[in-house]
Amino acid sequence: MEKFTTKTQIQQYLSLARANGKTIGLVPTMGALHAGHLSLIQQAQQQCDVVVCSIFVNPTQFTDPADLEKYPRPIQEDIRKLEAIGCDVLFEPAVNEIYDNNEHWHLNIGTLEDLLEGKYRPGHYQGVTQVVYKFFTLINPDVAFFGQKDYQQFLVISRMVALMDMPVKLIMCPIQREADGLAMSSRNIHLTPADRQNALVLSKTLNRIKSDFDINNIAILKQQAEAAINNQPGTQLDYFEIADGDTLLPADKQSKKIVALVAAKVGQTRLIDNVMISG
Ligand code: PAF
Repeated sequence: MEKFTTKTQIQQYLSLARANGKTIGLVPTMGALHAGHLSLIQQAQQQCDVVVCSIFVNPTQFTDPADLEKYPRPIQEDIRKLEAIGCDVLFEPAVNEIYDNNEHWHLNIGTLEDLLEGKYRPGHYQGVTQVVYKFFTLINPDVAFFGQKDYQQFLVISRMVALMDMPVKLIMCPIQREADGLAMSSRNIHLTPADRQNALVLSKTLNRIKSDFDINNIAILKQQAEAAINNQPGTQLDYFEIADGDTLLPADKQSKKIVALVAAKVGQTRLIDNVMISG
């Protein structure tokens, strides 16, 4: 695997690959790689000639300095995993390679800015679009791969790509789950054994809402989900929403694409998860 830390190095390497007619797939990550990330890389390997994985813990998307501080950074382990899976290129820049001191960024991402994750992490998606824009401009991938677990992030990045006319195809890959249903996340490492058990309420509730969708109305389903999560010890619900899959505004039974999304703090760790109900 080629490892680059500077923009010049990676641009030189990729311009040669492009000149040789190779297609480029990008899997942007913040490291602490798990099977979910590796499934994105495998998907990219099936569709592109050269697969680039970026590992960059992006400071501008963290709304809580303590969260940024404690974000896991097991870089040697990540490199081993990427090598074992046959990833072609790792891009792992330092913060000052990506950002100048006084950068300003604001993109009009519409109502997605303030809904759900946007409401609980104000400014988060400005940071996400800022860094993804930089990576797309620098790497110029033909295809970029993101996980469904960050469903709202995928919609926000899709909007950015449309607004900026960026020539990249975006692919959303399914959530990878542990055997008991917990959505894989780099943050799961922070769960205590008790948290780990309590966290199962999220995927269980999402699945129950999906299976009950045709027998109850949305308001009742939402109340039931909120009660189930609020009654779970050690768990503090931020939101449970049954939303239109394109806008994330509250869905009605006629919506063509419906997704149920949840965010909750389990112990000291904030987790998100979602499930497609239809569409
Ligand atoms: O999903 C993530 O890990 C991050 O938000 C991303 C897309 C790599 C941007 O920092």
